[in-house]
Amino acid sequence: MRKKIVAGNWKMNLNFEDGQKLTSEIVNILKDENDKKVTVVLNPPFVHLYPVKKLIGDTPNLFLGSQNCSDKSSGAYTGEVSAAMLVSFGAEYVIIGHSERREYFKESNQLLTAKTRQALENGLIPIFCCGEPLDIREAGTHEAYVKAQLTESLFGFTEEEISKVVIAYEPIWAIGTGKTASSEQAQEMHAALRNHFASKYGQNVADNLSILYGGSCNPGNAKEIFSKADVDGGLIGGASLKSRDFVEIVKSF
Ligand code: 13P
Repeated sequence: MRKKIVAGNWKMNLNFEDGQKLTSEIVNILKDENDKKVTVVLNPPFVHLYPVKKLIGDTPNLFLGSQNCSDKSSGAYTGEVSAAMLVSFGAEYVIIGHSERREYFKESNQLLTAKTRQALENGLIPIFCCGEPLDIREAGTHEAYVKAQLTESLFGFTEEEISKVVIAYEPIWAIGTGKTASSEQAQEMHAALRNHFASKYGQNVADNLSILYGGSCNPGNAKEIFSKADVDGGLIGGASLKSRDFVEIVKSF
């Protein structure tokens, strides 16, 4: 059975006190209201990991994730944070290959393979992001583009390793723009990606893969998007910074 997951990506937002307040509010609501047993993940910036983990405590179905990890295991890499460090601070998930990292920090498909390997070797669940820019969508080649991202980064992993990965499809033209993909567009891409994994790893592995949608997801559209057969939840940016909105999205299932 594949998991239903709603993950919040705070990106580079919130100072210490704001992060504490947001987490406390989410914990307070979710401890009573996550009756559908949705897996909820908070992905704050590195500096928030430890205090956020303390607030999460043993809240059921609420987990800590990071927005990034190094492709190296340890050593003289100033400014980097390793997967092993994240685990030692209580993280269980890590976002890998977000389009903002691909674009602004020039992360290649090959580098993302190394990061995914670090995550898996240290027992972190990678939330592996993929998605096409607007010109590719307009040219109609989006399916091939996103499949190539996945093939190049992930298809060297074993069946056992891939079974631990979560995929997030985030069309770049829908991120932070208020312009969401229609539920039909999301379903079409998610089904195509699931088939892509089935062609390499078999139907059983593909059927158990959680594929999240990301891109201007909000309390007004989440229910419709999550109702689609191949959409297993969301990776939420802007709306994850407001506790009520974020929890409303969790409750959209
Ligand atoms: P928004 O929800 O702000 O569009 O961001 C989506 C995203 O990039 C999540 O990783």
